[in-house]
Amino acid sequence: MKALILSGGKGTRLRPLTYTGAKQLVPVANKPILWYGIEAIVAAGITDIGIIISPETGEEVKTKTGTGDRFGAKITYIRQDQPAGLAHAVKIAQPFLGDSPFLMYLGDNLVQSDLSLFIQRFQERNLDALTLLCTVPNPTAFGVAKVDEEGRVLQLVEKPKVPPSNLALVGIYLFSNTVHNAIANIQPSARGELEITDAIQYLIDQPKKVESFQLQGWWLDTGKKDDLLEANRVILDTLLETDVQGKVDENSQVIGRVKIGQGSQVVNCTIRGPVTIGSNCHLENCFIGPYSSVADQVTLVDTDLEHSVILQGAKVIGVQQRIVDSVIGQRAQLSVAPRRPKALRFMIGDDSQIELV
Ligand code: TTP
Repeated sequence: MKALILSGGKGTRLRPLTYTGAKQLVPVANKPILWYGIEAIVAAGITDIGIIISPETGEEVKTKTGTGDRFGAKITYIRQDQPAGLAHAVKIAQPFLGDSPFLMYLGDNLVQSDLSLFIQRFQERNLDALTLLCTVPNPTAFGVAKVDEEGRVLQLVEKPKVPPSNLALVGIYLFSNTVHNAIANIQPSARGELEITDAIQYLIDQPKKVESFQLQGWWLDTGKKDDLLEANRVILDTLLETDVQGKVDENSQVIGRVKIGQGSQVVNCTIRGPVTIGSNCHLENCFIGPYSSVADQVTLVDTDLEHSVILQGAKVIGVQQRIVDSVIGQRAQLSVAPRRPKALRFMIGDDSQIELV
C-alpha cells in the first residue's frame, strides 16, 4: 500500500497567507498541517508516500518536509504544473503509484481517526474504492454521498442544492488500481478540473465495489481562517502537553497547559493555557489567553491576545485592546503608539482583512 498526499492547489481561500507560502505548511499548534497527515499515514503502517506539489510552493514544501526520514517514511515529490483537479493529481502520480492500491489524502485536512481501521476495511472487503465520510450540519457546502444501509456508495454529488444525505466526503480515500482506468474515462468538469468524485462515480456505474466508512472522531478542513482557528483550538485542547524550555521570569504567571520553546523569554506576562509558544520569542508585559499559538521568533510586547495564531517572525507591540480570533502572517508587524494613537497608519497586503471592532 502506498499513499498520495495532495499538497498543490491554489489555496485562494487562505489568502493572503498563501501568496507567500503553501497552505499545507500553515501551522496548527506550531506544526504544519501537512505533517499531521504524514504522521497519521505512517502510524497506519504506510511508509512509501508521494506528495503532489505545485510549481509555486513545491520547493518550500520539499525543503521543510524533507526526504521523510524524520517521519520514518520515504517521500517522493511529484510536481503538478497546474491545479487541474484531484483526479488529475492521481493521473500524474501514476508512475509513482504503479499498480499499487493507495491511500489518497488531501494535505489541508486534519482528522482524528486511526487510519488503520479504514485500511483494514478496504483490504478485507477487497474494494475498488473506500471513501471516508463524516456527518455535517451543512452538507450543501461539501461533496456528499448517498449510501445504502450496508455502506455501499450509490451516488456522489458536489455541493448539492438538495443534499441526498448529511454525509460529507472527508478528503481521504482508498483506491485499487482500477481508479486509473476510471480517470482515463472522465472529462473535466464545468470548472475545468478532473474531479475525483466523477472518477468514483464512474467506478460506481461500472459497477465496481465502492463503499464508505464513517469517521467517528473530528474532521477539520483548514481551508479558511475560521477553520484554521478551530483546528488550532481542537489540537491545543486535545494534544498539547506542558513543556516549558524557555525562560519565564518571576513576575510572570503561567497557568494551565503551556508549551514554551527553547531560547524564548517571557517577562512580566500572564499566560493562560492551552497555549503554545515557539522558540526564540520575546514576550513582555503581555496577556496570552487560551487557544493561542505563537510560532518561532515572534515578538509580543504590551499585547493582549486570545484564540489567535501568530506566525513566524511577526511583531505585535502596544496593542492593549484584546486581539481575538486573529491570524497574523509571517514577519507581519503591528504596533500602536504608547499614547492613545491619533491616526492609524497601514501597509496592508492584498486580500488582508482588518476589523477594528
Ligand atoms: P482544494 O482545497 O479543493 O483547492 P485549493 O488548494 O486550490 O484551495 P482553494 O479552494 O482555497 O483555492 O484542494 C484540496 C487539497 O488538494 C489541497 O491540499 C490542495 C490539493 N490540490 C492539489 O494538490 N492539486 C489540485 O489540482 C487541487 C485542485 C488541489
